Amino acid sequence: MINLKGKNIILAVCGGIAVYKVCDLVRKLISADAMVTCVMTENAMKFVTPLTFQTLSKNKVYHDMFNTESWDIDHISLAKKADIVVVVPATANTIAKLAYGFADNLVCSTVLATKAKILVCPAMNTNMLEHQATQKNIMTLKDYGYKFVEPKSGKLACGTVGNGNLASVENIVETIIKEII
Ligand SMILES: Cc1cc2nc3c(=O)[nH]c(=O)nc-3n(C[C@H](O)[C@H](O)[C@H](O)COP(=O)(O)O)c2cc1C
Repeated sequence: MINLKGKNIILAVCGGIAVYKVCDLVRKLISADAMVTCVMTENAMKFVTPLTFQTLSKNKVYHDMFNTESWDIDHISLAKKADIVVVVPATANTIAKLAYGFADNLVCSTVLATKAKILVCPAMNTNMLEHQATQKNIMTLKDYGYKFVEPKSGKLACGTVGNGNLASVENIVETIIKEII
């Protein structure tokens, strides 16, 4: 595995069932010596707690836009320090918000504020993925220059068989390495 020492990877974690796979992603990036900072949407925290990501990343987890514990403006400092922001799992909702430039939570604001590379890893039900709205929003993000790790087909958590499974953690790690090394 390539050493990622000195690389700042922001994981922008959204509220999809595939969040549990992001725990493994954090472990793999930490094993490669990367500095991993997790930023979570409020809905992501309904699936996995910040404590899990804090422990695995050995780092503070951010989720509150209006944090008063520090004078620092979190979405700006996170955006500045990032070598790459990885939106994972990218929900239909967050993809739509990013396509339209919404900045109503820490994940969207950080993505909007960064000049770093952005990698989007969608995961959702097949019909949600294939809906014209989602496809149009994905095309918009690709036009902005955002990179994607495409979802794969298989049996989804909802029982559907089709496209929408989060890409493998190995594939996501390889793509991160390709983008920042
Ligand atoms: C059990 C469960 C699983 C879900 N899984 C997904 C998913 O895999 N992908 C997705 O786009 N939305 C999924 N959703 C819907 C999102 O949680 C919902 O759209 C939410 O608003 C996303 O918020 P966020 O984008 O701010 O994290 C799921 C909802 C529930 C209740």
